[in-house]
Amino acid sequence: MPKRENLKLDYALMLRGGCGPYGKPEGDMPAMLQDLSAVKTSLRSQWKSGRVPFFSVLDRQEDIAAARALATDVRRRFKTLVVVGIGGSDLGTRAILKALPPAKGGMTVNFLGANTDPEEVAAVLKEVDWRRTALNVVSKSGNTVEPLATFLVLRDRLIRAVGRKAHASHVICTTGESGALREIARREGYRTLPVPEDVGGRFSVLTPVGLFPIACAGLDAKGLLAGAAAVRDEFSSAPVGRNAPLIWAGLQHDAFFRGERITVLMPYAESLREFAFWFRQLWAESLGKSHDRDGRIVHAGFTPVAALGATDQHSQIQLYAEGPADKTVTFIEVEKMRADFTVPKPYSDLEGAAYLGGHRMSAILKAERLATARALAVAGHPNCTLTLPGVTPASIGGLLMFFMVATAAAAELFEVNAYDQPGVEAGKQIIYSLLGRRSSSKR
Ligand code: PA5
Repeated sequence: MPKRENLKLDYALMLRGGCGPYGKPEGDMPAMLQDLSAVKTSLRSQWKSGRVPFFSVLDRQEDIAAARALATDVRRRFKTLVVVGIGGSDLGTRAILKALPPAKGGMTVNFLGANTDPEEVAAVLKEVDWRRTALNVVSKSGNTVEPLATFLVLRDRLIRAVGRKAHASHVICTTGESGALREIARREGYRTLPVPEDVGGRFSVLTPVGLFPIACAGLDAKGLLAGAAAVRDEFSSAPVGRNAPLIWAGLQHDAFFRGERITVLMPYAESLREFAFWFRQLWAESLGKSHDRDGRIVHAGFTPVAALGATDQHSQIQLYAEGPADKTVTFIEVEKMRADFTVPKPYSDLEGAAYLGGHRMSAILKAERLATARALAVAGHPNCTLTLPGVTPASIGGLLMFFMVATAAAAELFEVNAYDQPGVEAGKQIIYSLLGRRSSSKR
């Protein structure tokens, strides 16, 4: 069981000895570790030559400082921040803010723009006090339909509320070097933060994309980056046999060839509910590719499922246990919860309720996770558990980095490009033409 300060991976139930014939044969582990050793060498050399940008962003002090300085200024003036973005431009921020509640004195952060649902916009507009509200529009391309349309609606409301001249100081655009949003920011004099050109949206959470709203919420961006750096550096230095993200990726890759092409991520913590959705995009968009890097047809990829323990035991587990043997389940357990309660025992004569008395709620949650893992293994389904010591800025940073490393490693094993999304782009072009955009190549 590879162990690290921040994160533990227990994969015993992924192996044949743990879950039966749908598990990985123990005898194949040395060959897998050998493949992973080549993956590690390749990723390290790509990193050194600047081709693993999600590693390098942790060292881009200028971007980090710019996001923090702007957040300090915005926090002084405004109470609420509305983040307008979609996909890689908002899922990571949502995950972090769900895991780490806003600090004292931090701004309230709301999200819009991940849909063009007018009812959702109306609900937020009802509550907004524009004099105390800032808008952070996040779009790397600067051209994405949902956030751009939403921003144009919000901008109009903002101008009506505070006036054309004053409105510009409420808007912060986090965007790439070209695209409509960059041009709008230039014309209006909006303040901007960069999305590094070489960092793909779903790998951009630790750039100003996530760092600015997180700092506005008063959260410890430094701790987040330190946790991510620790996992990155551990990946680089630990031998493959104790390299948790590599092993996790190797086991998933292996499961793919046994027909286990659904990857369920099931944290047992409400605070990690949104984290599973961030992972869902990362794993799906990065690996779901029709061709490999040499142009051969491969149709690689897994279907990720975001689940939540213990809630989904009463929704999904029947299928996972007795349905097709087409999935693996990764549980996330939190060792020490930030709050806890002992269940009282008011009905000691009623066994159906009495047995719960005296147990800590956190212990019940752990028992539920363990019971589910064992039951799935008995039913023949491979599963593993990642354990976090607690939900902190450092552990969340580490968890984000864990899955980014694992995704990059899996892409190496499938020999696909983790950083493009031609399937998404094709849809975007069709939307443009349906909505009457004359040219998609110009601003
Ligand atoms: O990972 C990706 O690149 C995508 O999911 C994008 O984040 C998403 O399409 C939004 O794009 P943009 O930030 O350009 O608005």
